[in-house]
Amino acid sequence: MIITVTMNASVDKRYRVETLEPGTVMRVYSCRNTAGGKGLNVTRVLRQLGAEVLAVGVTGGRNGDFIESELDALGIRHDFARTEGESRCCVNVVEASGGRQTEFLEPGPTVGEGALEDFLARYAAAVHEGAVVAVSGSLPAGVPAGFYGQLANVASQAGAKVIVDSSGAALAASLAGGPHLIKPNMEEAAALLGRSLEGVADAEWAAKELMARGACRVAVSMGAKGVVLAGPRGAMHAKPPRITPRNTVGCGDSMVAAFALGIAYGWSSELMVRYAVALSAASALCDDTGAFNETDLENLLPKVECARLSWGPRRRCWLPRVVGVQCPRRRCLLPRAMGVHCLRRRCLSSRAAEV
Ligand SMILES: Nc1ncnc2c1ncn2[C@@H]1O[C@H](COP(=O)(O)OP(=O)(O)OP(=O)(O)O)[C@@H](O)[C@H]1O
Ligand SMILES: [Mg+2]
Repeated sequence: MIITVTMNASVDKRYRVETLEPGTVMRVYSCRNTAGGKGLNVTRVLRQLGAEVLAVGVTGGRNGDFIESELDALGIRHDFARTEGESRCCVNVVEASGGRQTEFLEPGPTVGEGALEDFLARYAAAVHEGAVVAVSGSLPAGVPAGFYGQLANVASQAGAKVIVDSSGAALAASLAGGPHLIKPNMEEAAALLGRSLEGVADAEWAAKELMARGACRVAVSMGAKGVVLAGPRGAMHAKPPRITPRNTVGCGDSMVAAFALGIAYGWSSELMVRYAVALSAASALCDDTGAFNETDLENLLPKVECARLSWGPRRRCWLPRVVGVQCPRRRCLLPRAMGVHCLRRRCLSSRAAEV
């Protein structure tokens, strides 16, 4: 099972307007509310992939009720600690003319000591069930900066692998917990390292530097330019084909979902990074955040280019041979797209379709 952590869950509101004009009264012609926060985007993508996932974190007030009821409606297991105050709202204003997006992110409630202790007790119980823990997003007020490092420690003691996707002090402090993987984007990596970064060579340097600071593996994502993944055996760069994106908010979250899946199922780094790039690019083609179209994923997967920057000898990569293999029971997306074993235990027979 994969566990996702969302400490600052939100009600995400998407407003569609013609053109955003600051200083005027704007008519919103469509509004959509969903359960949000980066961890919940990861959760929804994993759910769409057919993975077994448990969402934990902190919610509060009526917005918290809404978030939990949305997850119930999607059939997603969750176990949130409750804090006083209201979970935040985050507004994304999408302009019909040109597609520009402007986000307004509320800070969220201060998490009280009681709620934090309650969360930690639920988390400690959950990590014994999980192979991988994906910790995403900012820390709300009341939570110490070193918290993600603490979560990484608790998870590794229980034998789970932790992915951290955060920024600033929370990301920096998480390195002390030796996370299995961190996924900063270029700006986040640059802020952490205190220098500007541009291009693949800089991303590779940044990834290796962040490994030296405590992360076991580092994926530096670069939007349309793909991602550089560095690990103990070296670094590789995977790049999506050129696409016309519709919504790039949450692409990084889809990438984290793919990494969580790859780590949970013990995929090779090359397979994992190819899948992560295809899935996140598919998510850029989808209007909704934390979602993707299955056909886009299948089309993009064989088009991802992967170059080894400095990696050990190439191991057999079976990806091209199995792409497009159908899951015999057609229950979940992953075997259709990848030909690897099905995520649902009952469907393990699909491995036979590989050969
Ligand atoms: N314009 C694009 N075209 C193709 N793929 C894209 C594009 N933008 C993003 N992606 C894919 O998504 C991945 C993650 O994107 P990005 O680096 O923007 O993450 P991010 O800034 O963490 O996103 P967020 O935090 O909003 O989820 C990229 O590595 C790439 O594979
Ligand atoms: Mg991100």
